[in-house]
Amino acid sequence: MAAVVLVGAQWGDEGKGKVTDFLASQAQVVVRSTGGNNAGHTVVVGEEEFKIHLVPSGILYPATICVIGNGVVIDPKVLLTEMDSLEARGVSIANLRISPNAHVIMPYHIKLDELEEESKGNNKIGTTKRGIGPAYMDKAGRTGIRMGDLIEEDGFRRKLESNLQSKNLILEKVYGAKPFVAEKIFAEYLGYAKRLAPYLADTSLLINAALERGEKVLLEGAQGTLLDLDHGTYPYVTSSNPTAGGACVGAGIGPTRIKNVVGVIKAYTTRVGEGPFPTELVDAAGEEIRQKGHEFGTTTGRPRRCGWFDALIARYAARVSGINAFALTKLDVMGGLETIKICIGYQRGDELLTEFPLSQTALAECQPVYEEMPGWQEDLSQMRSLAELPQAARNYLNRIKELTGVDLFLIAVGPRRDETIVLQEAF
Ligand code: IMP
Repeated sequence: MAAVVLVGAQWGDEGKGKVTDFLASQAQVVVRSTGGNNAGHTVVVGEEEFKIHLVPSGILYPATICVIGNGVVIDPKVLLTEMDSLEARGVSIANLRISPNAHVIMPYHIKLDELEEESKGNNKIGTTKRGIGPAYMDKAGRTGIRMGDLIEEDGFRRKLESNLQSKNLILEKVYGAKPFVAEKIFAEYLGYAKRLAPYLADTSLLINAALERGEKVLLEGAQGTLLDLDHGTYPYVTSSNPTAGGACVGAGIGPTRIKNVVGVIKAYTTRVGEGPFPTELVDAAGEEIRQKGHEFGTTTGRPRRCGWFDALIARYAARVSGINAFALTKLDVMGGLETIKICIGYQRGDELLTEFPLSQTALAECQPVYEEMPGWQEDLSQMRSLAELPQAARNYLNRIKELTGVDLFLIAVGPRRDETIVLQEAF
């Protein structure tokens, strides 16, 4: 049996889509275990580009079983739109399975996400406004509606009406917003339930049975370590646990099933939304990386904040998820720079920090301590082995390996499937 967990090792947007796609080609089952349509994976197949938010990227392989696990929050309208658009492009969704325990994002979650953000003014989180936080709040508050509830009409109606009593009070009294009408939501969501019912299955049972048969299971990541509710840069985080432990919970498998935890790191750092970012580049170099790396959100289109690679973040991510191999993406984007910087520590007043601090106040006060290395000018996209890479690029990779203590298993030198240097097996 072999389950591999893939986690984002920075602030999300590490290029997980490409690595997931690579690993999915070897797996019989691919599972999405946390988050919702706040995520966006870009996968390039030949001349075609797929931007996928909820359906696991394994769907692009016809024989692969794709699971949306219990830890995911699902906006059924978005999911159906995605399923329809995949089918319209000739991708079969017959192998999709959805956990009845996955929670449903309701229209009031989306509205509340928007209103809560607005009310925070300058202290806003910068959420994707997809209703993710409010849906997980209801899950933790034990008032959430799950996919399995949608298909039980009477129970669904009761839960919806009861939820709307308190949600409408908040909407009207706190925010002065319009209340929702239960009957309207009921009719709309019942329609979604009818279409999604055939895909519901006991996904924990399915995944564990596949593992028993000796099949390969990939738990594909979403978001990233620093967006983790517990281990991320709270409160500027998402409302789930995108670290390796969260993947087990969200898929319904035990930690003993995990063979490897693969962390995805980008050759530089990006962040969307608010919060401190020590290596952020607000100059021309940052703009150059943004343009060259197409660093604009897959989900919201927002320009991503860009900065130098931060070894403290990668080492921290490796620690909290037990990462034993890194996939490094977008090495090609770093080409053409005279010099490249790597952050090896933070200066906070008189103190030199060598580990990522837990407090946001501390992080905001940190100045990055850099090591400078010569850059390279060559185009890397045709290179398929370490030996072909320019010496300066190899030095950069070696330094990342030394500073993080984690081996590299894959290097991406372009967005296409074949623009990849594979160094080790993951399964
Ligand atoms: P939420 O997940 O929409 O509640 O947003 C919370 C924070 O997580 C915001 O800073 C978002 O920009 C960030 N976030 C959520 N999902 C992703 C992602 O897939 N990539 C990058 N940032 C994300």
